[in-house]
This record gives sequence, structure tokens and C-alpha cells, in this order.
Amino acid sequence: MQIDTGRDRPGTGRFGLISRLLLDALDSVRTSGRRPVLLDCGGGSGTYAVPLAVAGADVTVVDISADALATLSRRAAEAGIASSVHPVQGDVEALGDLIGGAEFDLVLAHGILEAVDDVAAGFAGIRAAVRPGGLMSILVGNPVAAVVARALAGEPVLALAELRELYTPEARIGPDAVEALCAGAGLVVEARHGIGVFSDLVPGSALDAPGARDALDELDAAASGRSPFAEIAGRVHLLARRPG
Ligand SMILES: C[S@@+](CC[C@H](N)C(=O)[O-])C[C@H]1O[C@@H](n2cnc3c(N)ncnc32)[C@H](O)[C@@H]1O
Repeated sequence: MQIDTGRDRPGTGRFGLISRLLLDALDSVRTSGRRPVLLDCGGGSGTYAVPLAVAGADVTVVDISADALATLSRRAAEAGIASSVHPVQGDVEALGDLIGGAEFDLVLAHGILEAVDDVAAGFAGIRAAVRPGGLMSILVGNPVAAVVARALAGEPVLALAELRELYTPEARIGPDAVEALCAGAGLVVEARHGIGVFSDLVPGSALDAPGARDALDELDAAASGRSPFAEIAGRVHLLARRPG
């Protein structure tokens, strides 16, 4: 499977890493005798849904944007898997109404928890769509990375403000809060990876040397599951299982 949103080369970089994690997740929820059914919440134009359908899944995509869903349908048709992708326009905060209580093998919540008004309620609605034994794949921005990025950009005042906000009730949703939501909802977090640990920090102009991009990909992948590197990644991917 290749997931390429432009900045990274196909199958490499941050999206290559997420692709591999999703393919492993798909394999781990396959059951014999039927195709895996997936739900992509806030799936937009199909960055993940289209390649997952190409990999054999039947994917329902819920998104509030009609434009994004139109792009999704076009991309699905171009990939020859239109019948495996089901766009549903609506608000994930009313997910139960949109999907009629259906349950899925794998439910993606990539970049959507930051977008909902009520994170706890949004999370609970998405979690309710995971079948027993199924997986939830969550990609969330990491507020810690914003502090590091501000400091490295020569903006210590803003970095300090970002750092202080981390320890207030107004703090943005981040990976630790997601882990707490998973625990509270009876989900077992099986994996946690930092995405773009170093590539989010390195300017593209610094990567002109031969082999530098490949080495950076390797560095990102090697650091993604290792502390303390993973804790400063710009985004964090979590896989959480609903006990069967
Ligand atoms: C940051 S993008 C993430 C897209 C994709 N999941 C990814 O990771 O590449 C957020 C997506 O969520 C959608 N969205 C935002 N708020 C939403 C809501 N309340 N209900 C459904 N979709 C929403 C947007 O239209 C957009 O497609």
C-alpha cells in the first residue's frame, strides 16, 4: 500500500510509516470468510481510505466536507475500487445516527479528535463503532512538538506560552490524553509511534546531500517507537484494541 500526500515520496517518509502501521492493523483484524470492514472518521479525500480499499478492505468514510468526499469518490474510481468505498457526509459527533449503530473491524480517527467540539463525546461515539476484538487507529497532533518547534524557530516567548498551556485544562488534545480516553473506554493501547520525529524538524533544503532523505526516513522509523524520541514527534499514532 502506498499513501502519498505530496510532500513525501510514495511509500516513504511519514506516510510510508503510517501505511505500514495500517497494513499491519488490517492484517490483525482480518477474519476468514469475509472482507474486513473499515470506518474512516474525518477521512477526507481518502488519503488512507483509498489505499486500504486497494488492499482489500471495504471502507466507509464519514466526513463533513462535501468537496473532500467528491475528491474521495474520484480517487476511488481512478483506483478502480469505487464499489469498496462508501462516502457518508455528516458530522462525526452524530456518528451513531450516520452509521446506524454498525460495528467495524478497524476504525480510523486520524486528525479528527482535534476538530470536534466535544472530544470526550466524539471519542466515545467513534469508539462505539469498533467491534469486539477490533482496532481503533488514532493519529493525533502532539502539543509537545509545538513547544520544540517554536523554540527551534527562535520564538522562545511563544514556546514558553505553549509549554505552560500543556499543563492547563485548556491544553489541546494530545497523545497522553488519547491514552487516558482509551483506558477510560476499556481499550487496550497496543502500539504508540511518533510520526515524523525528525523530518518535521529538518528543513527540506538540508536534505539535498545524496542519501540524506533515505537516511532521514530510516532515522524517523527507528525513532518512532523509542523513548524519548517518540515523545517529541509532531504527530503520534496509537493502535488501541477493544477486547474481544
Ligand atoms: C486534518 S483533516 C484529516 C484528514 C485525514 N483523516 C488525514 O489524516 O489525512 C480533518 C478532516 O476532518 C473533517 N472534519 C472536520 N470536522 C469534522 C466533523 N465534525 N465531522 C466530520 N468530519 C470532520 C475535515 O473535513 C477533514 O477532511
